[in-house]
Amino acid sequence: MTIPYPSSQPMSAITPVVPPSGASRPRLTFLGTGYLGATYAICFAELGYEVIGFDVDAEKIAKLAGGEVPFHEPGLDELLRRNLAAGRLRFSTDIAETAHFGDVHFICVGTPQRADGMSADLSYVEASVTGLAQNLDRRALIVGKSTVPVGTAEWIEQLVDKHADSQLGVEVAYSPEFLQEGFAVEDVLRPNRIVVGVKSEWANSMLYSAHKGVFDLAATEDREVPLVVTDFATAELVKVAANAFLATKISFINAMAEVCEASGGDVTQLARAIGYDPRIGNRFLQAGVGFGGGCLPKDIRAFQARAQELGAGEALRFLHEVDLINLRRRNRVLQLAAELLDRRYGPAGPDLSGTRIAVLGATFKPNSDDVRDAPSLAVAAQLAKAGADVRVYDPQGMENARRAQPDLTYSPDMIEAVRDADLVCVLTEWSDFRNADPEALARVVAGRRVVDGRNCLDSTLWVQAGWEYRGMGRP
Ligand code: UDX
Repeated sequence: MTIPYPSSQPMSAITPVVPPSGASRPRLTFLGTGYLGATYAICFAELGYEVIGFDVDAEKIAKLAGGEVPFHEPGLDELLRRNLAAGRLRFSTDIAETAHFGDVHFICVGTPQRADGMSADLSYVEASVTGLAQNLDRRALIVGKSTVPVGTAEWIEQLVDKHADSQLGVEVAYSPEFLQEGFAVEDVLRPNRIVVGVKSEWANSMLYSAHKGVFDLAATEDREVPLVVTDFATAELVKVAANAFLATKISFINAMAEVCEASGGDVTQLARAIGYDPRIGNRFLQAGVGFGGGCLPKDIRAFQARAQELGAGEALRFLHEVDLINLRRRNRVLQLAAELLDRRYGPAGPDLSGTRIAVLGATFKPNSDDVRDAPSLAVAAQLAKAGADVRVYDPQGMENARRAQPDLTYSPDMIEAVRDADLVCVLTEWSDFRNADPEALARVVAGRRVVDGRNCLDSTLWVQAGWEYRGMGRP
């Protein structure tokens, strides 16, 4: 009887193979130098690999090649400049050069939500795989890394069969990433696990060599990075399942916040108390305006759409509820604003005309300049739509926020944003806001009213300074 590959073999059983380029370590390419691809390209060069980052966007490539990271990620600029200088890292818009260079090609392009529904748009994956396959001139491994619907790796194989020379023996694998914005460098250099979906021993071995730098770094620090070798479908599902779990955890505590609001409980204490149970854990249990960003919202929607296509839609129906709970939290800020400003909350929301509101925070979380699906910016737009004169300030996200919501008014700093405000809404928990002095802010506002949309302020201090304070899910 033959055991289907992969079997659950120990790491020591992986036989090393010589990369097709003949180099001692596989040469790596990352196609798509957005957040994911650029971070991986830079970090893998840091681990000692020879790397090319490829993109069709010449402007992005010119910036990266010039030593400038086009987004905010702590620690990444320095690694970029160091590895460019060391000659291990290059950026290119030339697909033929990229195809010729690499042994292992990682597909890192975006898979956004489709404009016409909840499913993922795979057109960038298709374009990059096709372009690469057509230009390959020797054996290589193509690895999907972008978050994709289950079944995509099989489809990539079909694309490769169609567009690459069949004599070359090009293979496909899938290896999800789990990087969190703001911690991306650590997440790539020191991941808490590596998952690979492979169909052959050669692919497994190549991927192992492509990650050996990560395992070696762990060994020097007396750590171990667990490796899960599995099939395509499982590897693809691991990523969306992990994000669905995290989103569910956040919506769970936000649902508890709703019940606390109705019953007079305090969700922050509730979260602390249940979080002490190690089976529950206290991480991702912060109630507030909910989750946003480029991953969780789109991933839970695409997961539902894919399950529906597969006839397993019922199994993920709860994710629809997770999404609704999340979106309801944004309205809660409007309710609290209406309450504090003594405005009636009608069927079309409150009328906030004649009021001035400071919104502190525009990014979907602190230590990032990313405003994609940011609850803070969505609430700012809703407050403005309700008639309020809204002033937005964010330490890193101003440029992106202006592009996403050009009609809002932006202030150059926190004090200017809150000056003459009737209400201050803290919607992203930047440390500048958490540590702001409520006495100092009290001196410049028109009314001492604050909505703490992330339960990140010390309510006692604010109340002592004369503020009327409202948190999320708190009495
Ligand atoms: C997420 C996953 O964490 C990561 O593993 C995956 O690879 C990509 O998606 P990221 O989008 O960077 O990463 O953000 P994350 O830190 O997970 O936060 C997501 C959102 O949830 C943020 O808006 C954050 O403010 C919110 N959140 C997080 C809460 O509202 N409460 C919490 O307790 C935790």
